[in-house]
Amino acid sequence: MRRYRQKYYDLFSNFYDLIIKLHSKDNRLFLRHYLARKSGIKPSDAVLDLCTGTGELALVLAHYAFKGRVIGLDFSLGMLNKAKEKAQKNGTKNLFFVAGDAAHLPFKEGVFDVVTCSHAMYELSGKTRPLALREIKRCLKSKGLFCMMEHEEPKQPFIRLLYYIRLLSMGKEGRKIIRNELKELKGIFNNVIKEVTSSGKTKVICGQKIG
Ligand SMILES: C[S@@+](CC[C@H](N)C(=O)[O-])C[C@H]1O[C@@H](n2cnc3c(N)ncnc32)[C@H](O)[C@@H]1O
Repeated sequence: MRRYRQKYYDLFSNFYDLIIKLHSKDNRLFLRHYLARKSGIKPSDAVLDLCTGTGELALVLAHYAFKGRVIGLDFSLGMLNKAKEKAQKNGTKNLFFVAGDAAHLPFKEGVFDVVTCSHAMYELSGKTRPLALREIKRCLKSKGLFCMMEHEEPKQPFIRLLYYIRLLSMGKEGRKIIRNELKELKGIFNNVIKEVTSSGKTKVICGQKIG
């Protein structure tokens, strides 16, 4: 399954940015800044963007952490290659990319001030998600913050139907997080807060590591 998803994203990397652009127009950039602001990144912070994809969010985060560094991690080399190309083109010097699995992060304990994950937490099903959440906590510094962004359950009937089709494709295990995400996150992090954007379409959930 993991290998299949990797191959899927390697292929998808060729169209990903275009599809996202068509789907969300300028909203995507607004949302990336929204997440960066909610995570309270400071200029010299060390930040991990988990499941970074083509690095769109990581590029924005690197702007906020301009005296620090941002690492974008993903298991798809196709996605990472696109991300690297963009960072190079942009001349971003404090952004690095690492190939790896969210369930086994190749970092020491307590090294990041902030960990972000945009539109990927729902993809981590089965054992991967609980492992990834534990790994995020391990890699965060004390008082560090984890912030994830996902679609809120749509209100419009047709979009809602598409949303439920996506849920079906995630299988029983995958769907658990949709129903229990706050409970699941509260079991791992402290001060868990959910906020929904003014459009009502997107949510950001942040939790802190205490101790
Ligand atoms: C829907 S994309 C989101 C990409 C990006 N965060 C964004 O907001 O555009 C999901 C990403 O998660 C990555 N991914 C899925 N499972 C993963 C895993 N177990 N470890 C690392 N990356 C994973 C995929 O390769 C893909 O790039």
